Amino acid sequence: MPDQQQHDVLIIGSGAAGLSLAIKLADHANVAVLSKEALIGGATLHAQGGFSAVLDEHDSTESHFEDTLATGVGLCDPDIVRFVVESAHKSVQWLVDQGVDFTRTDEESGSNSPFHLHKEGGHSHRRIIHAADATGKAIETTLESLVRAHPNINLYEHHIAVDLITIQKLAKPDNRCLGAYVLDVINNKVNVFSARNVILATGGAGKVYLYTSNPDSCTGDGIAMAHRAGCRIANMEFIQFHPTCLYHPMAKSFLISEALRGEGAKLILANGESFMHRYDSREELASRDVVARAIDYEMKRLGHDCVYLDISHKSKEFIKQHFPTINQRCLDLGIDMSSEPIPVVPAAHYTCGGVMVDQNGQTDIPGLYAIGEVSCSGLHGANRMASNSLLECVVFAHAAFKDIRQTLSATKMPGQLPEWDESRVTDSDEEVVVSHNWDEIRRFMWDYVGIVRTTKRLQRAQHRIKLLRSEVTEYYGNFRISKDLIELRNLLVVAELIVESALKRKESRGLHYTVDYPVADTTDKAINTVINPQLSENGHVAA
Ligand code: FAD
Ligand code: SIN
Repeated sequence: MPDQQQHDVLIIGSGAAGLSLAIKLADHANVAVLSKEALIGGATLHAQGGFSAVLDEHDSTESHFEDTLATGVGLCDPDIVRFVVESAHKSVQWLVDQGVDFTRTDEESGSNSPFHLHKEGGHSHRRIIHAADATGKAIETTLESLVRAHPNINLYEHHIAVDLITIQKLAKPDNRCLGAYVLDVINNKVNVFSARNVILATGGAGKVYLYTSNPDSCTGDGIAMAHRAGCRIANMEFIQFHPTCLYHPMAKSFLISEALRGEGAKLILANGESFMHRYDSREELASRDVVARAIDYEMKRLGHDCVYLDISHKSKEFIKQHFPTINQRCLDLGIDMSSEPIPVVPAAHYTCGGVMVDQNGQTDIPGLYAIGEVSCSGLHGANRMASNSLLECVVFAHAAFKDIRQTLSATKMPGQLPEWDESRVTDSDEEVVVSHNWDEIRRFMWDYVGIVRTTKRLQRAQHRIKLLRSEVTEYYGNFRISKDLIELRNLLVVAELIVESALKRKESRGLHYTVDYPVADTTDKAINTVINPQLSENGHVAA
């Protein structure tokens, strides 16, 4: 491969957001899609419950709008929420047109939609379209086959973006994103990719926590790269903990979908007692922040390692038909969910904050877009409502597509860019340092920056991050980079952004709960937490 790759559009990430955009653009532009693993490896592949959209005539977009605002506790941008919920119907149609095979309705559901609809926390209606309990897989594999077949889409699997290349980084005035340095993981070589437009579609950062529903790819790379390049990052304190991940020594990161609770599953303690009625009148279908905190409180109060989710009131046939993946996974581990409760615990699940964008997915840097979980669009506020994320991916892919298509021909292709400089680094003599540091961050983030926070614990985490930052910066400056080192460096940036944002918020709101400020501040209009890039004296982004 020649050292410098040129494309009209460089899309970093191949989940629902990145692949949707690639397909939309491919008839108008030459597109590159990077994935740091195999093409289908992000969170999208694992999505279970579904995709929210108003598809039943008894439901309304107004109700979807109101539910999303209520779940976001005062921090959603109402214009963005309206834009997204009003775009939901045609986004579903687009997915159906691409060939996604959503589950059709059955008589039992009482719905007048052609599709079977789930109900999840925060939603006042059944409005989650799904493909049984493997919705993400249906979307991702359908989109994968389309991008693989398109002659205008160039796929670079096992290529990890290291950093963005911007005009300011080249120490010139103004700013624009020109491309990225990319490590070819198989051949261990950093190449330059240049493009008229660059899109971050890199997903979230759940791997910054010890226990998470997220796959290994979710290390917040896009958020860290955008921060280093000079973008504002917002609302990073709002990390969503999913209430029900499978608790079993052999079940790394396996989710038990909220859709089970939508079908009447009860949360119970080891003695069989239910408890959600003590926390919220919506009980099991309260929003996730409420349910995760209730479980955390009960586990700590009783000193128990988990609680249980019981759906045994449903027949074996119903469970097999609606939740085949979850049923099989449980059976493989010796749990028959049709006759016994499933042990569950909360785990880090979704990054509500991220790179600040406008309604087209444009970031602060011209030519740089961010779409999907990497972004902070204003849709989720202080807490994302269930199944609004896949929706956001497709809606913002479309918005970015329209914006890019309009400006593409007038946008100059960057010239030759500076090569990656490896002249001062050597091979690492102690790779194990990287994995030790990974483990340390994920452990203290879980212990000190979890579901319930205190100022003292946040400060403790901040202190450790500072120490690790200086170690990793030195390591990064001396040794040849690897995928693990790139991810560690990014995880540290993300951890720092989460802690800094959490310390800034002197109240409890949505997903951010601190014992030191246990109630929401009602004296002022609710505000987003914005972390600005660090600028040097000449106004450029600090190195
Ligand atoms: P992802 O799908 O995570 O894709 C990111 C891509 O970026 C990957 O291809 C990755 O390899 C690539 N990448 C990352 N960094 C780099 C880099 N430096 N260089 C190159 N490539 C890079 N949401 C819903 O709406 N409904 C659900 O039912 C639902 N269920 C979920 C279940 C689970 C278990 C999980 C984990 C999440 C669920 N979510 C759900 C959330 C939703 O799946 C994600 O928010 C959404 O899929 C994110 O899509 P994305 O395209 O932004 O990122
Ligand atoms: C789930 O199926 O519970 C996950 C839904 C989501 O995260 O939106």
